Amino acid sequence: MKSHQSVRKEFLNFFEKRGHKIVPSSSLIPTDPSVLFTSAGMQQFKSHFLGEKSPYGKRVASCQKCLRTSDIESVGDDTHLTFFEMLGNFSFGDYFKKETIRYALEFLTKECGLPEEKLWFTYFKGDNKIPEDVESLKALIESGIHRGKIIGCGRKDNFWGPTGVSGPCGPTVEIHYQLFDKPCSRKEKCIPSCKCGRFVEIWNLVFNEYYQDENKNLKPLRQKGVDTGMGLERLIAVVNNKENIFETELFLPIIEVINLQSKEDYTQHKPAFRIIADHIKASVFLISEGIVPGKTEREYVLRRLLRRCIRYAKMIEADSNLLISVAEKVIEIYSSVYPELSRSKDKIFTVIQNEEEKFLKTIDRGLKEFEKIVQREKKIIRGEKAFYLYETFGFPLELIEEIAREKGLEVDKEGFFLAQKKHQEISRTGSSRKFGGVGIDLIDDQKEKEKVVRLHTATHLLHQALRSVLGKEVKQMGSDINPERLRFDFSFPRKLTAEEIEKVEKIVNEQIKKGLVVIRKEMSLEKALNIGALAFFRERYPERVSVYIIGEKDDSVGKAFSKEVCAGPHVNNTSELGIFRIIKEESCGAGVRRIKAVLE
Ligand code: ALA
Repeated sequence: MKSHQSVRKEFLNFFEKRGHKIVPSSSLIPTDPSVLFTSAGMQQFKSHFLGEKSPYGKRVASCQKCLRTSDIESVGDDTHLTFFEMLGNFSFGDYFKKETIRYALEFLTKECGLPEEKLWFTYFKGDNKIPEDVESLKALIESGIHRGKIIGCGRKDNFWGPTGVSGPCGPTVEIHYQLFDKPCSRKEKCIPSCKCGRFVEIWNLVFNEYYQDENKNLKPLRQKGVDTGMGLERLIAVVNNKENIFETELFLPIIEVINLQSKEDYTQHKPAFRIIADHIKASVFLISEGIVPGKTEREYVLRRLLRRCIRYAKMIEADSNLLISVAEKVIEIYSSVYPELSRSKDKIFTVIQNEEEKFLKTIDRGLKEFEKIVQREKKIIRGEKAFYLYETFGFPLELIEEIAREKGLEVDKEGFFLAQKKHQEISRTGSSRKFGGVGIDLIDDQKEKEKVVRLHTATHLLHQALRSVLGKEVKQMGSDINPERLRFDFSFPRKLTAEEIEKVEKIVNEQIKKGLVVIRKEMSLEKALNIGALAFFRERYPERVSVYIIGEKDDSVGKAFSKEVCAGPHVNNTSELGIFRIIKEESCGAGVRRIKAVLE
């Protein structure tokens, strides 16, 4: 048996020996604002494919944590996951197709000992816009692969990218592993695209030769690049002769925990067990990166994952602390590779527990209500009914759809969004004094306006001070300012100690005393993120953003105390603020704290 630690190491060593710099996994939360999560190893290198010099050189390799929500509905089968790790080697204008194919074959057959006759290959056969990838075909044949094992496919299967709206992309060679010899009843048509389960795709070799713009126009890239991605879980399964990923040491111990702590049996309820195992794993990693369940974007994905698990745990009649036990097992499996998981253990448990407590309060009533709706509605659950389940009982839309599907019904999604919009419009009226850089215009009194501006600058200082004292997981979750006080919500799993509050206050007051200058700079969002500007609002950013930098007069941008993407307005100098005092620190939902503070 090859352990997961050794498979990762062997892959990275193999490429290190061949001149690659090993780069650590980047965060699951990418700097690229056009995507919610890191979904491939290439994401952190996207700019290097477009010609920006890589600080690591032209050859790199990594093992990247990835999250893909696009496959969420397929989780439960033998191969799909939301969280997985991707092994990859990359070349930015260095080696290309021939070497990539040679490396891949050598690694799989020599290093992993997989029999070559079990490997199949697909390549891009061309279409009316892009020519056939003859170079890859030739390289495959020259490396001794039997022509019958090389299948030409179209754009859908053998062309990859870009991630987000634009970026590098190109033809691919996919390597598939044949799990058993006998073809299915489709006989000679039983090739890697066959869905009978005989093949599993293990490695995708992408040759970035094109750039696709927002309008889907392709133009050749000046510098050619290689981006490969191999699913670690699948590789571990095939090198250890396991039937599927759930039989490997990355999953089996988790399945065993679920088996022990529930009334039902794995063999009878495979999808439920696998969904819980996968979703809790994804949640553990997300929480360790500072995400907490909430209503929008990333936070909502986490909520969906957890609430889906909570429902499945009920279905298999699990013990009340199952999800925590599963999370504990996940941390145990991965902590040697991702030590941050053990460090965030308390927070992970707290966030899961809080979300469970919240949903368990309403799920039973919600399910009862659901039953009533099912009785009444015929084939389609009306939008406003679905919204009622969402708003009153906290059922994510996807969960409503899933339960409806199980009962043979559909959900009117358009109607749901309409109902949601109507609801939002109603709640917006009456909240016009909310401050966020726009609302200030609504304040008539000049003195009050100035107070709000001062509190706004203090909010930036507070945000940075919290990160200095509590760590980088502190992220802004919301902010509301009125002339009397500021209110700041941020991700953090527990109550702050008196010493921590004191420290935060002290840091803010020190910055005020120093008389730091506040300057506004306009720059591209990318540059803003590169200089380390904080940017945690939920709305989408424009191309160019305004960044407020608070620092000593002659500080370089890098050294400045605070940098934040923000529409302003702010004071010119922190000495205008007075004395900062925190008047309250409290919980504000699972994993979120709220601070109220004043300037005296
Ligand atoms: N970026 C390629 C993928 O995700 C390797 O499949």
